[in-house]
Amino acid sequence: MGKSVRAGVAWSTAVLVVVVSPAWADDDRRTAPLNPLYRDECGSCHVPFAPRWLPAESWRRVIGRLSDHYGVDASIDPARGRELLDWLQTRAAGDRRTVPPPQDRITQSAWFLREHKEVASPVWQRSGVRQPSNCAACHPRADEGSFRERDIVIPK
Ligand code: HEC
Ligand code: HEC
Repeated sequence: MGKSVRAGVAWSTAVLVVVVSPAWADDDRRTAPLNPLYRDECGSCHVPFAPRWLPAESWRRVIGRLSDHYGVDASIDPARGRELLDWLQTRAAGDRRTVPPPQDRITQSAWFLREHKEVASPVWQRSGVRQPSNCAACHPRADEGSFRERDIVIPK
């Protein structure tokens, strides 16, 4: 008896998710599947940033100069670079995020600054944060693609 009640609950939750998902289709709550090559090559030093956070033009520049990558050498072999760029470009921003931000930085994008305008500037300098690109400091589920407000934890 208990078992079939639980099964019923699980089933209705699944239906709810299916019904709700179209509305979420293009926002940041969606957990888009990540290319394993991208996760390995671009998720080892920082979280694997979502393709839709930068326009294709920015991704072309980022992949085109990996030997001089924001002060570090993040070179990969050219074939892998092309594969990553293809994957990134087809998923890049196509809306309000199409303007390449300064230095092709997600953290300098208008959308990023707007979403974070309530974060006071000293918070970005806390030792648990260090820099805005350290998304996982405040979004502990960033590597799963979740930036929901209820998952946010600001380091003290
Ligand atoms: C060897 C470590 C390393 C690897 C590997 C690496 N990065 Fe980075 N990345 C960095 C560092 C360091 C920064 C600068 C962090 C800062 O100053 O905020 C950075 C910054 C970035 C930024 C700008 C973040 C911002 O401030 O908005 C992007 C975009 C980015 N990386 C994309 C990639 C992609 C795509 C790959 C895979 C091809 C990759 N990274 C691989 C170390 C790495
Ligand atoms: C210092 C902590 C901190 C860091 C670091 C940080 N964020 Fe946030 N982020 C927040 C807070 C706080 C909010 C909620 C702001 C509000 O609603 O007032 C937020 C909101 C967001 C939202 C909107 C979420 C929603 O559902 O409305 C996105 C998307 C997001 N952040 C992405 C990022 C990305 C990508 C990075 C890294 C490049 C990052 N954040 C780095 C604190 C941070």
